[in-house]
Parts: sequence; structure tokens; C-alpha cells
Amino acid sequence: MPKARGRWRMWRQITRMINEFGYAKVNLTLHVTGQRPDGYHLLDSLVVFAGIGDRLYAARSGVSSLTVEGPFGADIPTDMGNLVLRAAALFSPHQGVAFTLQKNLPPASGIGGGSADAAAAIRAILRMLADENDATATDDIFAGLDRDAVLRLGADVPVCLYSRPARMQGIGDNVAQVACPEFWITLVNPRVAVPTPQVFAGLASKTNAPMPDLPVWPDAAALADWLHSQRNDLEAPALHIAPVIADVLRALRAQPGTLIARMSGSGATCFALAADEATAKATATAIQAAHPGWWAAAGRVFPS
Ligand code: C5P
Repeated sequence: MPKARGRWRMWRQITRMINEFGYAKVNLTLHVTGQRPDGYHLLDSLVVFAGIGDRLYAARSGVSSLTVEGPFGADIPTDMGNLVLRAAALFSPHQGVAFTLQKNLPPASGIGGGSADAAAAIRAILRMLADENDATATDDIFAGLDRDAVLRLGADVPVCLYSRPARMQGIGDNVAQVACPEFWITLVNPRVAVPTPQVFAGLASKTNAPMPDLPVWPDAAALADWLHSQRNDLEAPALHIAPVIADVLRALRAQPGTLIARMSGSGATCFALAADEATAKATATAIQAAHPGWWAAAGRVFPS
């Protein structure tokens, strides 16, 4: 084992604390291509993850528990209504874990929130088990996990487990890694909760064209050019439920350096894509100053 990793593992064993990040999930595209008999929709979505998100701390304990803090912690359930504890229950009931969740992402906002937290909990427990068994965590994060049970936690949990650029198809169960250039993103949420089932129900058509084969994008500008020819099919029904989303998109598009702005997931969070850090941060600062009631954050998007 390399020396640095050995020391890190020893430190973790002393503190018995594991620290994982629940990265914001951003749907750069979201095409709804069909609907299954059980009501779930078939999707074709290009998904990326930003260095903005929730922080999850995990430590061994007699029984599992969850404490929630942070700017958006107030109304977050701390019982089995929270995906963190439901994710932990996928593992042996004899293996209790005490979690502390620092909730930095606005909930019910189209950027993964609960799914990102569930994925962080799974990653934390896998690292904990690897430490306890003095083993190295396997590269295949799904090894030993019940894929259907992971999907049942939420359709976005499988893609959140990877937290790397991916093309997500099926209802979220089919995830393929994608090569993406490096870029920056600004997320803005107008603090309006948009219920996902209601947005899906408002779709004018449920059988829309999928994405074409993905090209290779040499840089952020090429990616943005290509994105202009793609869609988020949920944007129109979400705008109908929450017209303020149009104001968010207008504000993002008015910022210098915005390559493209679009809604993520079922909303109401929208993103602006930028080629560099200074542009993304300036956009967040300007929008926050103009709309103090909105939430804005900038982060780097992880290339594959
Ligand atoms: O799976 P998750 O709990 O995140 O989904 C929330 C809701 O979004 C579902 O109850 C369903 O109404 C809708 N949904 C869908 N098709 C998907 C994913 C979510 O209809 N592929």
C-alpha cells in the first residue's frame, strides 16, 4: 500500500469518520423518449456533476442515525424518509452508521439532492467496509450491490454513484460513461419547489426523439454548440408550473460568457455553462446580488 494512503487509512481508523461529497447532478440534456406501463418515463440524458454539493460524514455506531445541518437542513427528514438511511439499510442491518449530513443543495430542485446523498452514503459505507476488512475499495462500485434495490431508492442514484459525466438511459438504470471537456457551471434556483411527478404529467408528448450518437467535444464551446441542438423536454411543463424559471433563464443568458443556459432535471434549478472559473463565479455573484432570494453557486464540472 502506498505510504500516503496507509497514513490516511490510519487517520480514518483513529477518527472513525468518513467524509463523502454528494455532488450536484446536472442534466445538460433530458429527452423523454417513452413511458413504461408502471408510469416511469424512459429518458435519454447527458448528465454531469459539479463541485457543488452536500457533505456527508459517516462513523460506525451501534444503530444507524442521521443528523441534518447546513443552510438547507431545516425541513429535511432524519428518519427513513431520508434516502441516506434507506441507502444504509441496503447493507446488513447489524452494521449501524451514524451520519451527519450538511445540506448545501436546495431540496426538490432538479439537481439530484436526495439521490446524491444516497449515493454518498453508499460510497461511504463501501469505504468503511473496505477499511474494516483491510481491503481496497473495488473500482466497480456496483460490485456486491443489488442494482435493482439501488434503482428503487431513486432513478438518479445509479448515475450519482459514479458522479462522472455519463449518458443515462432507460429510467436511469442504463448508465454509460462519456468523455467531456473541462468546463464550469453556475447553478441558480429561484427557491420554488417543483413536484417532479407533476412536471412529467404536464408533458405534451412522451415519445420524443432520443439524442443522436454523441460526438467528441474538444472544448466547452463545442459542447455548448452541440447542446443548442438538444433539449430538456421537462422545461416546458416546469415553466408552466413555475413561470419564474423563465426569469432565471433570462438572467443567466444575460450574463457575459454564458455559453448556454437551460433547466436541469424537472427544475427549478437552471444552469449556465462557462469556459472558465472567473466567468462562472462572476455569473453567480451578479445573479445573487440582483436576486437575494435566489440560490446561486458556481463549480467546476468533472471531466471523465
Ligand atoms: O425515482 P425518483 O423517486 O427520483 O422519481 C421521482 C418521480 O419522478 C417518480 O415518482 C416519477 O413520477 C418521476 N419519474 C419518472 N420517470 C423517471 C424518473 C422519475 O416518471 N425515469
